[in-house]
Amino acid sequence: MKPIQVGLLGMGVVGSGTFNVLLRNQEEIKRRAGRGIEITMVADLDVARAQSLVGVDVKVVNDARAVIANPDIAIVIELIGGYGIAKTLVLEAIAAGKHVVTANKALLAVHGTEIFAAASAKGVMVAFEAAVAGGIPIIKALREGLTANSIQWIAGIINGTTNFILSEMRDKGLDFNVALQDAQRLGYAEADPTFDIEGVDAAHKITIMSAIAFGIPVQFNKAYIEGITKLSATDIKYAEQLGYRIKLLGITKRTVNGIELRVHPSLVPSKRLIANVEGAMNAVMVQGDAVGTTLYYGKGAGSEPTASAVIADLVDITRLHTADAAQRVPHLAFQPNAMSDLHVLPMSEVVTSYYLRLRVADEAGVLTKVTGILAATGISIDAMLQREADEVRAEGAVAGNVQVAQTDLIILTHDCVEAKMNAALAQMQALPTVLEPITRIRKEELA
Ligand code: HSE
Repeated sequence: MKPIQVGLLGMGVVGSGTFNVLLRNQEEIKRRAGRGIEITMVADLDVARAQSLVGVDVKVVNDARAVIANPDIAIVIELIGGYGIAKTLVLEAIAAGKHVVTANKALLAVHGTEIFAAASAKGVMVAFEAAVAGGIPIIKALREGLTANSIQWIAGIINGTTNFILSEMRDKGLDFNVALQDAQRLGYAEADPTFDIEGVDAAHKITIMSAIAFGIPVQFNKAYIEGITKLSATDIKYAEQLGYRIKLLGITKRTVNGIELRVHPSLVPSKRLIANVEGAMNAVMVQGDAVGTTLYYGKGAGSEPTASAVIADLVDITRLHTADAAQRVPHLAFQPNAMSDLHVLPMSEVVTSYYLRLRVADEAGVLTKVTGILAATGISIDAMLQREADEVRAEGAVAGNVQVAQTDLIILTHDCVEAKMNAALAQMQALPTVLEPITRIRKEELA
């Protein structure tokens, strides 16, 4: 059988990785897919550079629509990224009857419902393993490997840039800005790392996983998103003293009231495997009612790790494209007419536990006032530490004395609903003996 022909839009890091791995492993891939898979046409604005990467046998153009219009191309790989032209091209490729492979999590998290509906109507597949956690086959695991389960929750380190920054902060005691500069110098973070450090990239990915896990539409606009920019080395150190590490987690959870969908820094017990995922690596925990807890670990970005996921999708499509569309794995794991309308909870209704740090005047009665507010709000304390902050000690040593004796109170709470914690925080913050904005970091036991 003749090889299936593939068109590639965007010859960047992942595009060249895809081309190279497909070429290098072509024989094995052919034995798996049942026929050869060949990239025969590439669109990139820098035609000369792209041509030098793919050689003379591949047609390179600067117009993505020329690839979509080519009747010999059966699959279009979209590696342009973003919600703009990428969305138009994906919809045009679908309309032209092409199957689509994309690594574009932003596009699917925001416009997935429209794109999957268009693909289903046209009878084509949109495959997106590379969109979530790079080389980790988490989409395959959720949609197929765990299909027997009622999924209870997913918690993932799904942004390598922020995990690298947090690892540096913990290892070297660096503050966020210094660790970010290191990440940029080493090429982990983009020149504009906003989507990474503000948690948006992780929110795109957890939105997609949430939809697949619970059979709900992709609803990025309902995700709660908090990044790592306000984290201090002090909190990382105190967390460690209490037996925890701080990770940026994407979390989605089924509760009796609805679905939790959130990204924020979280304390995780140091003894959990996921707490020990360091550097730019990714890891995803999935809890299913039958299987229990499972953990998936690997590279979440990079040329060939992401190419590994793109090519897995190419093989899937090559095997299935002649099959009856009804027999294919649904885009979001559940049949389109069997999706659920479970609603996504606002953050105020999420139940979790907390780490609090209060810089307080070190005088009689302060602790009673703080714990009194927690008690009156119905929030139960799990553990407490009192520490003289390093910088307070240092200032005191230089100045010879400190005007107001200060100390850090660190409190771990048991689970409570976020609205209660917000109310308690407002009251504690209003105490004249609380000297600085209170730090609140959520805590997940992941048991
Ligand atoms: N910027 C992402 C990360 C990689 O740092 O993990 C692509 O999603």
